[in-house]
Amino acid sequence: MSETARIILDGKEYELPVIEGSEGEKAIDISKLRATTGYITLDSGFKNTGSTKSSITFLDGEQGILRYRGYPIEQLAENASFLEVAYLLIYSELPNQQQLDWFTNSITMHTLVHEDMRRFFEAFPNNAHPMGILSSMISSLSTYYPESQNPNRPFKDIELTIHRLIAKIPTLAAQAYKNNLGHPIMYPKNELSYTENFLYMMFGLPSSDYEVDPVIDDALNKLLILHADHEQNCSASTVRIVGSSQANLYSSISAGIAALWGPLHGGANQAVIEMLETIKNDGGDLTKWVDKAKDKTDSFRLMGFGHRVYKNFDPRAKIIKKAADDVLDKLGIDDPVLDIAKQLEEVALKDEYFVERGLYPNVDFYSGIIYRALGIPTEMFTVMFAIGRLPGWIAQWKEMTENGEPIGRPRQIYTGANNRDYVSVEKR
Ligand code: CMC
Repeated sequence: MSETARIILDGKEYELPVIEGSEGEKAIDISKLRATTGYITLDSGFKNTGSTKSSITFLDGEQGILRYRGYPIEQLAENASFLEVAYLLIYSELPNQQQLDWFTNSITMHTLVHEDMRRFFEAFPNNAHPMGILSSMISSLSTYYPESQNPNRPFKDIELTIHRLIAKIPTLAAQAYKNNLGHPIMYPKNELSYTENFLYMMFGLPSSDYEVDPVIDDALNKLLILHADHEQNCSASTVRIVGSSQANLYSSISAGIAALWGPLHGGANQAVIEMLETIKNDGGDLTKWVDKAKDKTDSFRLMGFGHRVYKNFDPRAKIIKKAADDVLDKLGIDDPVLDIAKQLEEVALKDEYFVERGLYPNVDFYSGIIYRALGIPTEMFTVMFAIGRLPGWIAQWKEMTENGEPIGRPRQIYTGANNRDYVSVEKR
């Protein structure tokens, strides 16, 4: 007999089904609870609520396990290319050579963005945050492809939108950067790989040749893979919930970019470097800053520390820390901010406050140091995260659509005023 949970409400016992995932995770299915008992469940921030069944990414926060479609993140980061991983997330299996060639070719063929969109860039102030630009530009793409607004299109059309998104996001990101600099934009080059092309569009100049450094290319590939998906996080849930209203894929992804921007989510990578620089410029007294982070009357938090699901270590941070060392070593860069980061990690990890709460460095703690070494400006860090996360958002959206999931619409417990009569303004 399958397992059930029993709940007693108002003296009456109800049975609720228990479901189990392929890695033994268990959930109590409360979807009929309100209909049968009149009760809802309350869980602010969805800390203990499963919003869906998903076969994309498995993570075990206690053991520090992260797998995409069953493949350990360590193996993918070491051996795969970002486009291979994107294919894996979206199409469920690793591509064979023919499938990878087809996918790569299709992405390469869609890297250009409509010339008219250049005028949008011109209208942004030159200190505009690139995440604001990226989110707007991705949403604007839907206006250039109006057919994307029909939710009942055949998969072939949706696939074209998916390929366009992956192809155009590096072009738009690089254009946002060039626009901020006031430099001419660099058009994509078809003979370059996905990561090489992005680096070329970011750092190439019409007046000189640009050769991609393989160390930088390799590090970028790794970083994108490590960020490619992370199951039901804030931005992925946003993409799913926006998509559940049958809003088009461009708009759903644009909403995901906006959700990622916040410093508690993807924006942490920018916040970490800014924090480390502040600590350095303040004289490097780490105890002072750790004490500030512990002080409940102070809003300061150690950015890059803590995670909703990882309570032992973040497997991505482990890979990135080593990659940061390798990259800096290979490029011969001595970054004092890296020293501050390492010392801060050491002080925090010995501190009872951080140990008790399971607060460890997360993926964003060291990623900014690599981005800096690659020459990527601080405000672009979260854009890099967005480029990496795009295939994950797409896979989450596709799964939600294919499963025919209902519109996302949580309930609430109302705590406001009870019924009262309107009083005209003169009498108030
Ligand atoms: N510095 C100081 N205290 C912290 C921190 C921190 N970075 N993170 C959590 N805490 C404390 C928090 O004050 C609370 O203490 P208490 O139990 O005494 O009230 C306890 O630890 C639990 O924190 P929480 O806010 O309830 O945990 P959460 O799961 O809601 O938040 C988090 C997770 C990532 C938002 C949070 O740890 C945080 O704000 N970290 C800093 C921002 C950051 O690095 N974000 C990037 C996350 S990784 C990239 C991604 O995938 O988004």
